[in-house]
Amino acid sequence: MADQYLFALFILPALLYLGSYLRNNHNAGTFPRPYAYPFLGHLVAIFRNRNQIFEWIAEVVNNSPSATFLFHLPLRRHPHIVTANPANVQHILKTRFDIYHKHRKFRVVLHDLCRDNVFLADGQEWRKLRQFASREFSSRSFHKFVELITENEVSNRLLPLLSVAAANNAVIDLQDVLRRFTFDIAVQMGLGHDLAYLYNFPNFPPTNFADAFESAFEISMKRILQFFWKAKRFFNMGSERGLKRDISEIREFIKEIIINNRRRSSTGGADFLSGLMNDPEGKFDDDEFLIDSSINFLLAAQDTVITALTWYFWSVSRNPKVEDKIVKEVKDEKKDIRDMIYTHASIFESMRLHPPVPFGGREAIQDDVLPDGTKVKKGMAVFYPTYAMGRSLELWGSDWPEFRPERWLNRTQENHDEWTFVPRDSFTYPIFHGGPRICLGKDIAFMQIETVATAVFRRFHFVPAMEEAVFLSHFALKMTNGFLVKVVDRNA
Ligand code: HEM
Repeated sequence: MADQYLFALFILPALLYLGSYLRNNHNAGTFPRPYAYPFLGHLVAIFRNRNQIFEWIAEVVNNSPSATFLFHLPLRRHPHIVTANPANVQHILKTRFDIYHKHRKFRVVLHDLCRDNVFLADGQEWRKLRQFASREFSSRSFHKFVELITENEVSNRLLPLLSVAAANNAVIDLQDVLRRFTFDIAVQMGLGHDLAYLYNFPNFPPTNFADAFESAFEISMKRILQFFWKAKRFFNMGSERGLKRDISEIREFIKEIIINNRRRSSTGGADFLSGLMNDPEGKFDDDEFLIDSSINFLLAAQDTVITALTWYFWSVSRNPKVEDKIVKEVKDEKKDIRDMIYTHASIFESMRLHPPVPFGGREAIQDDVLPDGTKVKKGMAVFYPTYAMGRSLELWGSDWPEFRPERWLNRTQENHDEWTFVPRDSFTYPIFHGGPRICLGKDIAFMQIETVATAVFRRFHFVPAMEEAVFLSHFALKMTNGFLVKVVDRNA
């Protein structure tokens, strides 16, 4: 009997410790692998690096054999696989799309906000929703409408604001300006309603709807790291009470717009919501479905574009030679926006280093093996860190830290002054995801970013009014203290 106690108390833990140590702590390269403690796994290392989690994961993964690392966490039967290997990414997003679904936890934490709509659904349900959504996204009238509202927002609001800021030598928070700009456009695209947030500078209006939206998303995502959120929701306490209030504000606001649309007897507007309401095959009469679809649309269409634009202007402002080339191109009156290859490449390059969605992942619904030999058990999560992939020496060469749009370009054979764009496949550069579930708004996002970039650089130059950009490395790459700049008018 004493032997059994001895075994249970000392020898078993010691064996577990040794097994876990040998399995997880052998060093393959020069980079010190994070230490996995028995029972705790990599939790201590993750906690220590929590304030620069994306940079740290990039170092760990890019220094691991086949760019794949297994993170062990307490109370988990299986580790989480994090892989920056394009063959593995292609496997989960495309080749075995059928067995890699949205991560269960992600679906649970976002469900109150998104419900069962295109963002969270899987299988047949998702296929049906995607079909409806892509019909709207690919319609010519929708694209024309989006181009028009983007151009109007740029020429009637953004450029006049920059002009006043330049004339007054004012320091502005460009991230806040771009947030207002993007919300104005996203809500017009999605709901046909103008929030007019980018108005009356410097006495901007409050941004209640945007605040509720961002807060709802943030609280929902933070649930991933909390143990007791379901109890807090049940008792309507703390952040869960805030989330409930945010969601109800968002739903009320959208409902009002739907009711107004109906009152105007479905005017056949070109926005996404009107498109759904008037879809001849859809018969979308159910308010709850229309609200869910609008929320899913807005979730996809604003945060990503704000982040892409903010880091784009930050990257260019730190690279004067690149800015000179962009300015030369956008000032060339013979060139159409579609021919601005260098500017196009500079946007790709900016998102390589600062991807608006820094981390993606799926969950296996059956056992599998990844192309690099990593074994996947049913229920295991496989993540692809886009932030790490853009910083991989293997994928981008030793000059990966440089912001160099030229890496996306080739000189044409016939005319050595002309560039051609050389795209990378969407599994080496999965910024917009890849495979059947690739981002539906990719072309729209590019059109918007290019429209802003060309119009702004034709006339303005930004001088950063802060030393470094500090960003929250949680779920998006938002700059914590904003992006403070002085606006300089090139014509003044
Ligand atoms: C730079 C801007 C953008 C980036 C980087 C981006 C990135 C992504 C990514 C990574 C996903 C996949 C999410 C996942 O399933 O894990 C996605 C999905 C999606 N995006 Fe975008 N996005 C951008 C802009 C937009 C815009 C402007 C719209 C709408 C106008 C949009 C609409 C969608 C939709 C509807 C989906 C869901 C597709 C599906 O699950 O079938 N995105 N996007």
